[in-house]
Amino acid sequence: MSLFFERPDFGERAVLVHLKLNSETEPEDPREFEELVLSAGGDPVEFLTGSRSSPHAKYFVGTGKLEEIGSTVRRCDAELVIFNHNLSPSQERNLEAELKCRVLDRTGLILDIFAQRARTHEGKLQVELAQLQHLSSRLVRGWTHLDREKGGIGMRGPGETQLESDRRMVRERIQTIKKRLEKVRKQRDQNRRSRDKADIPTVSLVGYTNAGKSTLFNKLTQSDVFAADQLFATLDPTMRRLDVPEQGPVIFADTVGFISHLPHRLVDAFRATLEEAASATLLLHIVDAAAEDRAVNIERVGDVLKEIEANDLPTLMVYNKIDLLADAQPRIDRNAEGKPEAVWLSALTVDGLDLLLQAVIESLPGVMVHRHLKLQPNQGAFRAALYGQKAVLAEQVDEQGAINLEIKLAESDYLRLLKASGLKSDELVSL
Ligand code: GTP
Repeated sequence: MSLFFERPDFGERAVLVHLKLNSETEPEDPREFEELVLSAGGDPVEFLTGSRSSPHAKYFVGTGKLEEIGSTVRRCDAELVIFNHNLSPSQERNLEAELKCRVLDRTGLILDIFAQRARTHEGKLQVELAQLQHLSSRLVRGWTHLDREKGGIGMRGPGETQLESDRRMVRERIQTIKKRLEKVRKQRDQNRRSRDKADIPTVSLVGYTNAGKSTLFNKLTQSDVFAADQLFATLDPTMRRLDVPEQGPVIFADTVGFISHLPHRLVDAFRATLEEAASATLLLHIVDAAAEDRAVNIERVGDVLKEIEANDLPTLMVYNKIDLLADAQPRIDRNAEGKPEAVWLSALTVDGLDLLLQAVIESLPGVMVHRHLKLQPNQGAFRAALYGQKAVLAEQVDEQGAINLEIKLAESDYLRLLKASGLKSDELVSL
């Protein structure tokens, strides 16, 4: 994919290291760590744990633990040591020099997973940028510290030159990617603005990694449950415009899989994609209903949604993979008011896909009304009702005392408010 990173072959034998640190306010979860390594295609041969009050400055772990890691690497013939922590560039380098094998920290691990899963041009650029930024702080003394044959006296001249040219290449590549990303972002903003103008609602699929978002997205967009709108066929495989009955056009958007404690650099890199989710009309929170950690994963996604300020959006829970549960039937769970809260289905067998359609239709605002009205002073009750519905976008009083309103709300709500105010649509002057 990129100039600098070849994907390692699958099944790299890895020793995992997880420490309990008293200094950590938000400790990482060792179970999630193992899942992450597996989903990166690693082969965890040993899981070493320990505890410290705070990280060792030079090696992150203490010297005793370092020896234990070293002997485990030799005994298991491991190619890689992965830490469930973020290491400083110098800690990573010192560890590699001491252990004589590659060392990856948590950010590096997550970047690798994202690199494998990025599907859009933008996603690939975002991952490459984050990888390069992660790397550039680590380009301090070239690569020679890993090489037992070369290195030492005599290598310094060419080594330094190599390092300088590596650094320059990384810098240039970062600039190129930033420029390209800027272009993609502008395009995306423009698309979003034209969607907003046309009042097209967006349904974003979010969920913990491996929940089945992409499978569901593909089933939704390929099945005839929704008629795909060919007119709007887009090059971005994560966004599709579909015609939803009783609603009209709706954009469905797939997003990157969530992982707890997403490193900040990645949140930044994926901000544009995540912001897309934060501006959705409706979120579908896809959950692997068969996962042992189901409740924890829901919380992890909740935390990321909070971080991108998307936690107050209308959300429909989608419990996926019911084919793996004994006796689970497709169904819609509703709240006391009868509104859909959750749908149980299987993206794989498509059982329950029709229920999802029904729940989405019920959860979307329906056809929207967006218009400018001129209200007379005696139509104040209707004005108040519109405010109560949060439907007023702008208000202006003219010289004659008439109120000019710009409103936007669901057509069904508009008709209901009109009726409640005893008004007929033709009694209102539209501007
Ligand atoms: P990320 O790309 O990490 O965000 O994953 P994702 O949420 O997009 O999950 P994806 O669609 O890639 O599915 C993950 C795995 O779950 C794949 O192996 C799918 O085949 C499997 N899967 C998805 N839906 C179902 C389902 O309904 N039943 C079963 N049994 N497996 C499913």
